[in-house]
Amino acid sequence: MTQDELKALVGQAALQYVVPGEIVGVGTGSTVNKFIEALAGIKDSIPGAVSSSNASTQRLLALGIRVFDAGEVGELAVYIDGADEIDGRGYMVKGGGAALTREKIVAAQSRRFVCIADDSKRVEVLGRFPLPVEVIPMATQRIVRQFQAMGGTAKVRIKDGQPLVTDNGQHILDVTGLRIREPLAFETEVNQWPGVLTVGVFAHQKAAVCLLGTAAGVQTVSY
Ligand code: 5RP
Repeated sequence: MTQDELKALVGQAALQYVVPGEIVGVGTGSTVNKFIEALAGIKDSIPGAVSSSNASTQRLLALGIRVFDAGEVGELAVYIDGADEIDGRGYMVKGGGAALTREKIVAAQSRRFVCIADDSKRVEVLGRFPLPVEVIPMATQRIVRQFQAMGGTAKVRIKDGQPLVTDNGQHILDVTGLRIREPLAFETEVNQWPGVLTVGVFAHQKAAVCLLGTAAGVQTVSY
């Protein structure tokens, strides 16, 4: 099975976690795009979605799924999103699509995070994928030095020859060379550095369930 087919498989499998009559939280990325396509098939059973990015909002609206602002609704039953890495405890690295801040906001508003991923995303220790960090540009150089002191190398993410600008008007640092053995402590520490908007470690908002696409089918892992 191709990676694309595995993504479609878990995107479809995630429908079983959508609660009829309830607004669903929707993440961002190529795996979530498959979920959004599947969600369109049952859109009449839900009032709509809260989206974690402009990109997902556009896709949802194009398929006739109503999009609510996070601030106009209460707690969500479920948030469905992909990951760049997931470890054996449900801790994740996210932000490859630069949507990490809004993803963390919608995840925090949801009772249950259901991660959908192909099995290439599974890791023993977080840190293989360059860690995305959304930063306020005036703090970038100091944050780069703080990661350097930890043994990491942080580079500003570039798009079309310019620093990528997120949906929140900020920049992304991608940090390599880290082995994140204590995700909860790491997330707490980096998130309080002045100028860090969000670090892409999702430990406080970890997955409750992961639907992993494997050659043998969908494997469901609960944490
Ligand atoms: C976007 C994300 C995505 O969930 C993550 O990058 C995985 O994306 P994909 O499903 O395309 O592999 O965190 O900010």
